[in-house]
Amino acid sequence: MRYAIIGPGALGCLLAAALGDQHEVWLLDHDPTRAAQLNQQQILLTKNGRERPIPIRATANPADLAGIDCGLLCVKSKAVAQALTRSLPGLGGCRLIIAFENGIAHLEVIPALLQKIPWAVGVTGLGATLTGPGQIRFGGEGLTRMGFLAAEPDAPTIALLTAVANDFRQSGLPTEISMNILGPIWDKLLINCGINALTAIRNCPNGDLLNDSETISMLTTAVKEGEAVAKTLGVSITPDPVERTMAVCRATAANISSMLQDVRRHRPTEIDAINGAVVHLAETLGLPSEMNRELTRQIRNLEESAPLFP
Ligand code: PAF
Repeated sequence: MRYAIIGPGALGCLLAAALGDQHEVWLLDHDPTRAAQLNQQQILLTKNGRERPIPIRATANPADLAGIDCGLLCVKSKAVAQALTRSLPGLGGCRLIIAFENGIAHLEVIPALLQKIPWAVGVTGLGATLTGPGQIRFGGEGLTRMGFLAAEPDAPTIALLTAVANDFRQSGLPTEISMNILGPIWDKLLINCGINALTAIRNCPNGDLLNDSETISMLTTAVKEGEAVAKTLGVSITPDPVERTMAVCRATAANISSMLQDVRRHRPTEIDAINGAVVHLAETLGLPSEMNRELTRQIRNLEESAPLFP
């Protein structure tokens, strides 16, 4: 299978590293200088204290993607429209795109842009930290789920998603096809609602959120507000999201959340796709969302207090 991974961030590089051993993998970067650097240096994956180079092909030219079978969209939520618009001319033969963004904002944007290419959603519990261009530190194992959100696709597209899931498994990434991908999307959204903004505000690794009762109470309220929205929308989420969020804090105790990584690098965060999206839906449904609104406000303040690099 020929893969194009759109976006050389932590997840994009981790998937490229995993699939790159056995498949032809292209990494599409909007920055030609960095793409040239990645081509020379390859992906450098540090796992269990050992660094290993993994060969991939990087390019900033979407025309190089002609003939790929599957695109894995791994850009930040806010960059989805720009990344797809830029890469679509090169994705002519592509038969499936799987979107791996955090939050739910991208689900509104993608249908209008991908009218000709079937798309699915990926939700992953894999953890990774980008330590430099193409350099990642493995952050922890996690199940990846993939599924179609929109109307039932045709048989070849279902077969292709099944083949991709097999490739992921053979590359060492536990992966399942989900017939109800909206459930896992919201399961992860609720975890991100509880962890990401708070770690960025407290400037601490995930595990430290459980060190004081005030932070635990904020985490609990943020997740419960999101849970009420999910239930009102009829999304079938896994029970007890607060306990599951705290379990993720413990399991990824030393991890620097993706939002704290963004804040530290002065990059725009995904607050609008996570806590901000919950606030928006809660307001529409007439449900309380004070904690998510407050977390969103504080993150926007952090973004404004330092210059941002897109
Ligand atoms: O966004 C993240 O950082 C991750 O989704 C999670 C689960 C919070 C772990 O750091």
